[in-house]
Amino acid sequence: MYLFLVLNLNTLWVAVSIAMQHGHYDMCKTQTKSDEGIVWEYMACQPESKDMTQYLKVRLDPPNSTCGDPPEPFCAMGNPYMCNNECDASTKELAHPSELMFDSEGRNPSTFWQSVTWKNYPTPLQINITLSWNKTIELTQNIAITFESGRPEKMILEKSLDYGVTWQPYQFYAADCLDAFRMEPKSVKDLTANTVLDIICTEEYSTGYAAHAKTISFEIKDRFAIFAGPRLHNMASLYSQLDTTKNLRDFFTVTDLRIRLLKPATGATFVDERNLGRYFYAISDIKIYGRCKCNLHANSCTFTNNRLACDCEHNTTGQDCERCKKQFQGQAWSPGSYLTIPKGTANICDPSIAFIGNCYCYGHSNRCTYIEIVNTAVCVGCRHNTRGQHCEKCKKSFHRNGSAKLDDVNVCIANVCDNELLRCQNGGVCHNNMRCQCLPGYTGILCEKPKCEETGGCSSKSGQESIPHNLYLTTMIIVARLCTL
Ligand SMILES: *[C@@H]1O[C@H](CO)[C@@H](O)[C@H](O)[C@H]1NC(C)=O
Ligand SMILES: *[C@@H]1O[C@H](CO)[C@@H](O)[C@H](O)[C@H]1NC(C)=O
Ligand SMILES: *[C@@H]1O[C@H](CO)[C@@H](O)[C@H](O)[C@H]1NC(C)=O
Ligand SMILES: *[C@@H]1O[C@H](CO)[C@@H](O)[C@H](O)[C@H]1NC(C)=O
Ligand SMILES: *[C@@H]1O[C@H](CO)[C@@H](O)[C@H](O)[C@H]1NC(C)=O
Repeated sequence: MYLFLVLNLNTLWVAVSIAMQHGHYDMCKTQTKSDEGIVWEYMACQPESKDMTQYLKVRLDPPNSTCGDPPEPFCAMGNPYMCNNECDASTKELAHPSELMFDSEGRNPSTFWQSVTWKNYPTPLQINITLSWNKTIELTQNIAITFESGRPEKMILEKSLDYGVTWQPYQFYAADCLDAFRMEPKSVKDLTANTVLDIICTEEYSTGYAAHAKTISFEIKDRFAIFAGPRLHNMASLYSQLDTTKNLRDFFTVTDLRIRLLKPATGATFVDERNLGRYFYAISDIKIYGRCKCNLHANSCTFTNNRLACDCEHNTTGQDCERCKKQFQGQAWSPGSYLTIPKGTANICDPSIAFIGNCYCYGHSNRCTYIEIVNTAVCVGCRHNTRGQHCEKCKKSFHRNGSAKLDDVNVCIANVCDNELLRCQNGGVCHNNMRCQCLPGYTGILCEKPKCEETGGCSSKSGQESIPHNLYLTTMIIVARLCTL
């Protein structure tokens, strides 16, 4: 049995507004009954937040910084005096390749990536771990990196928004921010709405070997909470900030992340040079939750051929739904708006405005161009002797065929005059069935205009001070008319 639910527009809007206040934005469109029958309603929408580590590519720099090639001994984690462990890349049980940072594991992570040891001390042991999606991602939860070696004493988290071409720091981490980066230590809790985009150095995550403190975080939720309240109960407020503040939106958006490991945990002021096998990095887990950035034009994103792409709706297209489909480009593309309905809008690429086939340019052109300054689309290359923004007017020396509709190829006809039909007016005579030869004092294709209109000399249209002159001209024209009668 089917339950058929009829929603009118108002109830729909209420439903949608509630969904949006809760920050779901999970529907791009819905069918609804209105006075005009079943219609589609379009809404800003976004894909759900997911574990994004499934879709990334990882790269290590230098490339030979994973341990085990050649095999090497290292000291047990947490016990620097037991140095008879071995990392061997060619033996599965003893290998620690980078994919082990992203494998699923239970409560006791036993698999991890591990670096080479600091055998080249005092040359710094510095390793970049670059994570690339080849897709813009919006982060939705804290980034959490779990270290099985002690947490590094110096680290920078960096981000790129342009597929790795340029990089910006996201957060600095150090046991001593002043010493490591010449930055005052700060906590994300110190940030306010005015400083939320500040890049800080924090000392909260850099105490080396502490039994239950293995994680380094990048605190997304604390930043969201500045706008949405401590338990993120007011997501609408966050979304309206995001809607109007591009910098804030971009702050949470990345195409790549880079973890720059600059100094391993030493657990002491001095490095023990006799036991360099104590010092290395080991990461068992990296958590990154986010969603595909689809500019609020898609509610799903698919991974095909090793590539993430939005499943665009609203007649948009592109990996991020960042442009209108070909036949829907009459209007400038814009992202959907987070604001609640009815203020917010899906900003669909509107087929009724942009559609070029039979309706917008009345079938006289299949091209139109968007003129940004006046925010309008204009048909280009109107055929069938038409012209105008919508090809809705006739070119010069053609006139409107009253019995043809605007989309008729015969809508504009040449002024083929004909003496029998007496098309030429005011005594004009058709010449070679081509054009009206007008009597003096008349002009226009059909001699329909008295010349005084052309010269501006008609008495009704003139200004006061030119009366004597106009009076003279008018008199002359009246005389001319009389003469021809
Ligand atoms: C890590 O990346 C930074 C730029 O983000 C670069 O300056 C540095 O040389 C890289 N380090 C290594 C070890 O590749
Ligand atoms: C990695 O390779 C470079 C150049 O091939 C070499 O100089 C460096 O010592 C190697 N690093 C390690 C840790 O093996
Ligand atoms: C990234 O995606 C583009 C298509 O958007 C593709 O051409 C390119 O090869 C991809 N790059 C990598 C490194 O996968
Ligand atoms: C997109 O275009 C198709 C026609 O190609 C139309 O059926 C559909 O309703 C359009 N969708 C929107 C959201 O305008
Ligand atoms: C005017 O349009 C009608 C309808 O298409 C057409 O039949 C007629 O021939 C047109 N008139 C001229 C003068 O072309």
